[in-house]
Amino acid sequence: MPDRGQLPAEIDTTKPSIARVYDWFLGGKDNFAVDRQVAEAAMKVSPGAQEAGKQNRAFLQRVVHHMAAEAGVRQFIDIGSGLPTQGNVHQVAQEVDPAARVVYVDNDPMVLVHGRALLATDGSTKVIQADARDPRSILENDQVKDFIDFGEPVGLLMLSILHHLHDQEDPAGVAATLRAPLVSGSFVAISHFCNPGEAHPASSQQAATAEKLFNENLGTGRWRTPDEITGYFGDFELVEPGLVPLPEWRAEPSFFVKNTLLYHTYYGGLARKS
Ligand SMILES: C[S@@+](CC[C@H](N)C(=O)[O-])C[C@H]1O[C@@H](n2cnc3c(N)ncnc32)[C@H](O)[C@@H]1O
Repeated sequence: MPDRGQLPAEIDTTKPSIARVYDWFLGGKDNFAVDRQVAEAAMKVSPGAQEAGKQNRAFLQRVVHHMAAEAGVRQFIDIGSGLPTQGNVHQVAQEVDPAARVVYVDNDPMVLVHGRALLATDGSTKVIQADARDPRSILENDQVKDFIDFGEPVGLLMLSILHHLHDQEDPAGVAATLRAPLVSGSFVAISHFCNPGEAHPASSQQAATAEKLFNENLGTGRWRTPDEITGYFGDFELVEPGLVPLPEWRAEPSFFVKNTLLYHTYYGGLARKS
C-alpha cells in the first residue's frame, strides 16, 4: 500500500478509485482499504473477476503486439490507461521498435504521479491527465499534438474505459471524436463489459448483477450489448476474429476457459481504418 504522506493532496484515499480497484485485481500494491472493499465485494458477485482483469491485460498485450509487429504502427494513444503494471503498452510496442511512441491518458491523479515516476527517463512515452468525457481536450493537448503525428497511423486504445462512461456521457460520441483525426492504416482497440442478452441468458443475468454492484459502489459501470460495443468502432473494419470474448482474440487455445459465467461478459476487438 502506498504511504499516504507521500501522495499529493488531490489523491482521495477515502473513496474508491477505478484505477486502484483494477490495480488490486491485477495483484498490484497501489490501492487502499476502500478500493479493496469494492474489489472483494465484486469477487463475491463474480468470483472470476480477478481472472477477467488478467485476461483483459493479456488482450491488451496481444492487440498492441499485433498493431506494432504485424501492421507497423509506431504511435499509440492509450485512453484510460490505468496505473502502470506489468506488460504496459509502451513495453509491448517498444519490444518491437524501441522508438515506438505512447501517450497514456487517464483522469486519475494517481496514474499521473506513478506514470511520471516510472517513465521519468523514457523519452518515448508520455502520461497526461485528461478526461475522456472531454475528448477534444485530449486531441488539443499540447503534449499529444507535439508527440503524435496525426499524418501517420495511430493505434488508439480504449480498453476497459468506455464501460465506465454512463449512457448520458455519450461513449459513442467520445469514441467518434477520438477516431475522427486518425488516417488510413490506424487502428482502434476496445475492450468492454458485455451483456450478451438472450444469446447467453446466464451470463446476461450475471452481467446485470455485476452492473448493479458496480453502480452502487463505484458509481460507474455499464455492461453493453455486442451491437452497442460494435458501434464504437464506427466505420473502422473489425479484423479477424471480430468482437469476441477476450480469450478468443488470437489467444492460444489453452487460454480458453469457457465454463465460466463471465466468459460472455467481457468482449474485445480491434478494427482498422482502410
Ligand atoms: C479498468 S482500468 C483499465 C486500464 C487499462 N486500459 C487496461 O485495460 O488494462 C480503467 C481506467 O480508466 C480510467 N478512467 C475512468 N474514467 C475515465 C475518464 N472519464 N477519463 C479518463 N480516464 C478514465 C480509470 O482511472 C482507470 O485507470
